Amino acid sequence: MVIEQIKIGYDNFCYVIYCPIHKKAAIVDPGFDTTKSLQFITANNLILEYIILTHYHNDHSAETKHLKKIIPSSRIVSSKEDGQKLPIKPDILVCDKSQLKVGNILLSFLLTPGHTPGGICIIVDKKAMLTGDTLFIGDCGRTDLPGGNLAQMYASLHEKIMKLPDELRGYPGQDYGERPFDSLGCQKRNNKTLKVKTLKEFSTIP
Ligand SMILES: [Fe+2]
Repeated sequence: MVIEQIKIGYDNFCYVIYCPIHKKAAIVDPGFDTTKSLQFITANNLILEYIILTHYHNDHSAETKHLKKIIPSSRIVSSKEDGQKLPIKPDILVCDKSQLKVGNILLSFLLTPGHTPGGICIIVDKKAMLTGDTLFIGDCGRTDLPGGNLAQMYASLHEKIMKLPDELRGYPGQDYGERPFDSLGCQKRNNKTLKVKTLKEFSTIP
């Protein structure tokens, strides 16, 4: 798989998505410890093309400015909604169904509000999905923070994520589950936030 999952501070995950043929890469959610992802990039002779933020929260975006300063040719990618809240202006705004290429790797974006107004998931080559704080292993992201919305989260999970293929491997933004990643099929069967059938039921999940 062309995804490197990197554990960083406070149970966060940062990711490097890369094309081994063209040596191009994207860093997703540089919240802390950028050194680790930069080391991976350097060790594999990769060129950083994109810095992608699944949402604006500080623990996912704090080192974006620093990274852009180190590699000025890299382009910052976010949704329009969350881009407005970042301390640095994004270069590329994505919306539902936007696509970007990292070398041969196709990234497709899904707008999944609920945790924040402009949270995004990133589908990598139709094989994997980085879910930020929208979907965790066994749970979903909080909806009680500023900009969070329970009904939007339910719609993102049940009208978008539940419709995706079971084979997709889900990579969360936080290491809160019993494993660091899982197939979407397994999460559809076991994740309490995906198992519910109505918004009312969803709203009663502790
Ligand atoms: Fe968050």
